[in-house]
Amino acid sequence: MDRVMMEAFVRHTGRVAALARANVDTDQIVPKQFLKRVERTGFGSALFHDWRFRSDGSPNPDFELNHPVARSASILLAGENFGCGSSREHAVWALREYGFRAILAPSFADIFFANCCQNGLVPVRLLPQEIGELFRRHHAAGGEYQLTIDLEEQRVDDALGFRTTFSMEPYRREMLLHGLDEQAGCGMRDAGGAVKTHTIAVLPGDGIGPEVIAEAERALEAVGDRFGIDFTLRRFPIGAAGVAAAGDPFPEETRAAVARVDAVLLGAVGDPSLDQAPRHLRPESGLLALRAQLGVFANLRPVAVFPALVHRSPLKADRLEDVDVLIVRELTGGLYYGEPRGREGGGAAAVNTLRYTAAEIKRVARVAFESARQRRGHVTSVDKANVLEVSQLWRETVTRVARDYPDVRLDHLYVDTAAMRLVADPRAFDVLLTENMFGDILSDEAAVLVGSLGLLPSASLGEGPGLFEPIHGSAPDIAGRDVANPIGAIATVAMLLRRGLGLAEPAAAVERAISLALEQGARTQDIAEPGAAALGTRAMGERIAGLISQERRSRASVPS
Ligand code: IPM
Ligand code: MN
Repeated sequence: MDRVMMEAFVRHTGRVAALARANVDTDQIVPKQFLKRVERTGFGSALFHDWRFRSDGSPNPDFELNHPVARSASILLAGENFGCGSSREHAVWALREYGFRAILAPSFADIFFANCCQNGLVPVRLLPQEIGELFRRHHAAGGEYQLTIDLEEQRVDDALGFRTTFSMEPYRREMLLHGLDEQAGCGMRDAGGAVKTHTIAVLPGDGIGPEVIAEAERALEAVGDRFGIDFTLRRFPIGAAGVAAAGDPFPEETRAAVARVDAVLLGAVGDPSLDQAPRHLRPESGLLALRAQLGVFANLRPVAVFPALVHRSPLKADRLEDVDVLIVRELTGGLYYGEPRGREGGGAAAVNTLRYTAAEIKRVARVAFESARQRRGHVTSVDKANVLEVSQLWRETVTRVARDYPDVRLDHLYVDTAAMRLVADPRAFDVLLTENMFGDILSDEAAVLVGSLGLLPSASLGEGPGLFEPIHGSAPDIAGRDVANPIGAIATVAMLLRRGLGLAEPAAAVERAISLALEQGARTQDIAEPGAAALGTRAMGERIAGLISQERRSRASVPS
């Protein structure tokens, strides 16, 4: 499952580190005393070890990569015949793990070049005089020098007018562009482009997003191993991470990638440092643009109470037994997208537009009725038809769609009543169908029933690839502390498998593992008894992944 970790490379801008030495060999890249390991990780600290550190173990201040400006470099500018010597892949792993995404050199050793392509490190051959010019520019800038490498266009340029092109064998380029390793790449060549792998764009985003997504990936890896399914995960920035990487909360690279995958897995977006930023730079704008581009108009948010957690809800336990609501939220229309919008009169007034067409209402209503057929056959449509024309159209349209589903019971509630009923009598709901803004609010309210927002997944569906995200936000207050609950993200993996890839059995295995972990008493801080010990994000993720894999062993030992 190493391919899971391989990152796609489409276009990259980054700081350049210069290593003006010829014939750097793989023994110098990773000295051989560091090779006695079977894993592919843990080599970053060994990179250029004997150059980076003096014999007493302290960093050698004269070595190029130890200069403060070179610390965050992701592009290595190198001399001729880079990567010569023995053919070990460890050299590439070490460079990748240290943070390099690409190497520019006048020539590479052949095997090293191939290893780069198989491990997601982009080797770019340029003419010796071009490399010379880049060294000069790097030097003139005192090391504060950035380049953009565009693999799709096969182009290298800087912000100061340097620009050149390079070429790479098409199949190698395809492997790097799609984040495929050798095995998948062979499949690609054999089948003339069709690889039998599920390609998932992973958008960790901001705050706790990367932490919970790491655990979602761990669960996917366990599923892949257990069921023999091949997943190719390609990571891309979104939200504040997109603004940091490319000055855009929905970078071009991400935009191009999500159109070509089987499903999109997202963590969370939002960062307080951008609260005052103009709308086009806000992380949330990136998410809304992503939903719009994918056309994922139906957002499914299942809210089912885990028996093990009934007492964690502020509601009385007897109201919660058997609560199982599916919120179907319209996701690409309404106030979130309506035009005109904006500030008026120098900022002293503001406008947003609530607009729906009958066609938009109809298609999401159908999703609700179809879902009800698979469940308890009951749809509650929520609106504000006593006040809003849009809600009157909503109610009429849903009533018309219901004629095609005589086996499904339909009723209507005003949103204020629905908000009250949701906590007073949650068992009254099976499928709750509503528009974008009401659905946003009611789904957070419904989360109270299960005890934590951190437990809930969602699936957003349209015509193309689906978008799968936990319903919680980026929670900047707890980010980076290993306390976030990864269950929402892992349950999202189950939805992705079932609704996004049609893999029902693996999806059920993930859900069973989550329930089992909770039954065994595993708790993150948000769902632990006050004062009781809690697992961190990672420990909870490992527990659940372990249960996914373990089921195989216990099942395999039972003759069937
Ligand atoms: C959600 C979130 C988003 C929404 C925000 C982050 C734009 O609250 O998915 O519920 O309002 O849709
Ligand atoms: Mn929300």
